[in-house]
Amino acid sequence: MRATRRNTLKGGLGAIAAVQLVAAGGVAFGQASVSPTTLGLGNLPGRERRALDGTWRYILDPFDVAGRKPTGRRSFWQNRIETDDTGLIEYEWSSSDEMTVPGDWNTAEPELHYYDGPVYFYRTLETGPQQGLRQILYFEAVNYAATIWLNGVEIARHEGGFTPFQVDITDILQRTGSGVHDLVVRADSRHGPETVPGLDFDWKNWGGITRSVWLVEVPANYIRDVYARLDGDELLVDIALDGQSAGNASLDVSLSGSNGTHAAQTDAEGRATVRIAIAGLTRWSPDAPQLYDLTVETQSDRLIDAIGLRTIETRGREVLLNGEPIFLRGISMHEEAFGPEATREVSQAEARALLAEAQSLGCNFVRLAHYPHADHVARLADEMGIMLWAEIPVYWEEIAYDSPRTLALARQMMTELVMRDRSRASVVMWSVANETPQSEERTRFLETVIADVRSLDPSRLITAALNKNVDVGGVRDGESIIEVRDPLGESLDVVAINQYEGWYGNRTPGEISQVSFRNSYEKPMMFSEFGAGALYGHRGPREERWTEDYQAWLYEETLKVVETTPGCVGLAPWLLKDFRSPRRWHGRFQDLWNRKGLVSPEGGRKQAFFVLQDFYRRKAGEA
Ligand code: GCU
Repeated sequence: MRATRRNTLKGGLGAIAAVQLVAAGGVAFGQASVSPTTLGLGNLPGRERRALDGTWRYILDPFDVAGRKPTGRRSFWQNRIETDDTGLIEYEWSSSDEMTVPGDWNTAEPELHYYDGPVYFYRTLETGPQQGLRQILYFEAVNYAATIWLNGVEIARHEGGFTPFQVDITDILQRTGSGVHDLVVRADSRHGPETVPGLDFDWKNWGGITRSVWLVEVPANYIRDVYARLDGDELLVDIALDGQSAGNASLDVSLSGSNGTHAAQTDAEGRATVRIAIAGLTRWSPDAPQLYDLTVETQSDRLIDAIGLRTIETRGREVLLNGEPIFLRGISMHEEAFGPEATREVSQAEARALLAEAQSLGCNFVRLAHYPHADHVARLADEMGIMLWAEIPVYWEEIAYDSPRTLALARQMMTELVMRDRSRASVVMWSVANETPQSEERTRFLETVIADVRSLDPSRLITAALNKNVDVGGVRDGESIIEVRDPLGESLDVVAINQYEGWYGNRTPGEISQVSFRNSYEKPMMFSEFGAGALYGHRGPREERWTEDYQAWLYEETLKVVETTPGCVGLAPWLLKDFRSPRRWHGRFQDLWNRKGLVSPEGGRKQAFFVLQDFYRRKAGEA
């Protein structure tokens, strides 16, 4: 449903917002703090919860006046009603415009297509204290910096547009009692020199409450998190309880398909680990995406999660899935639904459509670029049998690698992503960065993030997309050997390279065969990006850029090089679908879309789609 408008505002907003952006220098409003990550509720879908989605009211504050110069006249975080005593109040939530949550404001209203700045959202929340229960507000994602108020009191802040955060409102409800409460969310989409991503990135900055909001109810003593992964022939399950009597509590764990229930006692911290023998059970793989129900039960709580049983590791230059070498037949993908006008919010059905199109291409692997996609994407991939690369938006040189604040932010985002998805069989790789400069600060920055990941989840591979590679020259004139020498490679399990020979380079697709790639590390290597722009339906001589024919030719030639690249375990070409980007200006061929998709925004398959599909069919036949 489109936003309802009381009056029309034409054009000006974009320009005003741009000014604000420059002035902000990081996120405004007293710097949304980089909160030490509160270890959130795992397995949201397994919880009792109420969706707070639907129609919310909203107020734009393009000059961030309320944030920078707060007064009662514009205290949007409260639901103030003017009376004789209040004096003038220059807003009224009950008559403000409406917008659907989840969603992005850029497609909610034409005037907001380019809006970048703070927007306040309001809705009532009818609830009250529940005997023996805790109530937690859970936000799946708010882009970019969020501030949350309940009844005019600030209760939480979060920075990062793609990971979940939550706030326990039990005590507040105890104090304020049952009834109608005022919930206000400020979403500030602006980025700055110290944000993640920074000031420049090649995707549209969709602003808003872009994923669902939930009121989650858990028992006073509840199962906060369950982390399951294979260790040899055993399933290792770490359980963390929360609440007064989390310590020394008894619990039972069972896995469908395996015998018996496994009893355990938590330690004083409310933690326990259980090992379950899984001999005879089916290992999860793209060909057999078998899932089993893992149930954890305590005296007061019960949590079930559908999990797959698989191992992923490297051996020399190979990647092994369940101990067998695997070739990653991949494609990269942004989180944008199919349609004439893309949107950030991708529902389950829309995510399934995107993943199904990747499967039609012959993929067993998808690179979720360049930020954490919605929770349900990994769960769908578990079910559909697609391996995933999950990434945080440490992107390009636009990151303040020497800033402790930015480092804390990147660590927070990575922790939130890993904690959310570390029991998903489909997620086989964590990526800590894309196309970052080879500086000491950068390497130290990312090594810190990598160390966090290794301690939070030692069961998966770690990678990063590298593009600062060295042309060591070739045997014959005109030839090149592109070598990965990035020092970050030392800390990675899989070396991934982005290369754009035939598009950004000065070679034509016909000259791509002059290039070969190698990595100086005794590690698996993959191509995490390559591609060319093509406007769907635009055909012509293959030498002509922007034609489907040029793109197809580039794929044909690049795939030949892939075949001959030693230790190449896979690829994730750039990318599945054309996507919105404010830095793609060619009026005839781009029109603010990045056109490197193999399918158009509405799903039209370009010639290169079939080139890659043939290649993957052959590869699958070889497997
Ligand atoms: C880069 C980058 C992508 C970008 C792509 C392109 O490699 O990682 O985010 O969209 O190239 O130029 O199309």
